Amino acid sequence: MATIGLIGAGHIGSQIARLAVANGYQVVISNSRGPETLSELVAELGPNARAGTPVEAGKAGDIVVVTVPLKNYRDVPVEPLAGKIVIDTNNYYPSRDGHIPELDNESTTTSELLQRHLPTSKVVKGFNHIYASELTTDGRPAGTKNRRALVIAGDDSGAKAQVTHLLDQLGFDIVDAGPLKEGWRIQRDTPGYGPRRTAEELRKDLAAAKRYADQ
Ligand SMILES: NC(=O)c1ccc[n+]([C@@H]2O[C@H](COP(=O)([O-])OP(=O)(O)OC[C@H]3O[C@@H](n4cnc5c(N)ncnc54)[C@H](OP(=O)(O)O)[C@@H]3O)[C@@H](O)[C@H]2O)c1
Repeated sequence: MATIGLIGAGHIGSQIARLAVANGYQVVISNSRGPETLSELVAELGPNARAGTPVEAGKAGDIVVVTVPLKNYRDVPVEPLAGKIVIDTNNYYPSRDGHIPELDNESTTTSELLQRHLPTSKVVKGFNHIYASELTTDGRPAGTKNRRALVIAGDDSGAKAQVTHLLDQLGFDIVDAGPLKEGWRIQRDTPGYGPRRTAEELRKDLAAAKRYADQ
């Protein structure tokens, strides 16, 4: 049974944990305050879940999900994630994260920042444009008509193939936006950010996305 390590167990992290356990994965969840603060969630998730530190979740995960407020991305432990597939859910909200000049001037993207912090990990952008609550309500089996789709982006094709397999198992079609630098096409305030979309609709949304400077 594959293990998903979660760094961050808030709205999105807890929901990905629920979805993963419901689909036969093991999860190791972590937050900033320590595993003891996650006992209620672990009890709810059942025997295929445990809590650990971010280092433990990183070490345990076959795939690791980073889902913390973006301003804290530099706290993500580097060594335990070396060589691993890391799914990055993070978005940039200056009101929460403070101003990050390279994102304000659009010279980079959120997932490229995480990739730079985790140089040997294979970062794949994912789960960033769906409301947390919808993760456990909107998944459907492969082949369902009008199945909801989620966007990924990444620089490693093998990692993207594995994340595609994971998302499909969790109930979603997948649209590949290309390399990490194209991840801006699904960032906050783009057409695909938030609403329920099929793969075909999301492809149109990605094509129609505008840089903040052009909005
Ligand atoms: N909420 C959504 O619907 C949604 C949808 C898509 C994407 N996102 C993005 O996904 C990310 C997470 O969002 P969220 O809504 O789940 O946030 P959240 O509810 O505030 O949860 C954040 C989690 O990260 C943990 N955390 C914070 N700093 C940490 C650190 N330094 N090391 C380890 N864990 C740390 C927190 O632990 P403590 O509580 O112990 O500090 C908490 O478990 C954000 O970038 C957000 O923009 C959110």
